[in-house]
Amino acid sequence: MNTQTIENAHTSGVYAKRDLIIVRGEGATLYDDQGNAYIDCVGGQGTANLGHAHPKVVAAISEQAGKIISCPEMFYNDTRAKLLEKLTSLAPQGMERAFLSNSGTEAVEAAFKFARYSTKRTEIIATMRGFHGRSMGALSATWSKKYRTPFEPLIPGIKHVPYNKLERLDAAIDENTAAVILEAVQGEGGVYPGDAEYLLGAQELCKERGALLIMDEIQTGFGRTGKMFAINHYDL
Ligand SMILES: Cc1ncc(COP(=O)(O)O)c(C=O)c1O
Repeated sequence: MNTQTIENAHTSGVYAKRDLIIVRGEGATLYDDQGNAYIDCVGGQGTANLGHAHPKVVAAISEQAGKIISCPEMFYNDTRAKLLEKLTSLAPQGMERAFLSNSGTEAVEAAFKFARYSTKRTEIIATMRGFHGRSMGALSATWSKKYRTPFEPLIPGIKHVPYNKLERLDAAIDENTAAVILEAVQGEGGVYPGDAEYLLGAQELCKERGALLIMDEIQTGFGRTGKMFAINHYDL
């Protein structure tokens, strides 16, 4: 059986597929099973920032796989120590710790849990047109009905306000607000950048009222807007 027949028989069916069998990538070029080349405008949906099969990346992954394939955080590990050091050196000053996870949606789940746990408050404020992932907590902060409706009821305590409207955010944040979650550029929502006054204003409001500000950089992080993180454009 060929690839398409096998995938069609066994895939979950969650994703609509293009009629292409991609077998290889090199830099920003993808190749199908017939050897046709394509410019990769998908970039692993944001995960292939460094392109495909860069020799240094291949060597680093191979070397690590040859040493130890996984090391839970119940032990210390030399490679993880270097990763944490590097990550936190790239983050804005004062952010000296990182929680490592496997996907964007998990990072958002973790951020919500850290926010609720550390503030002892329950409410999260998200924005209309925002996208934060598809697991139940992150989905509850995601705006689009097409992602939400089939899985309702979602988790309580999450409300949505219009994006880029500081006065609406101002009216929404109160003593129950654990966190506000924002994208510096709304990606899935249609590529809407936030105004500097809005993002800086949101930061001020959060500081003033004891809420945390979660900047979701899953789509914009690691150089995708020209700086390491989109928040670097605004000095957030
Ligand atoms: C802003 C934002 N947050 C979270 C996610 C979820 O990331 P993942 O698909 O890795 O779970 C995405 C995915 O596109 C995203 O764009």
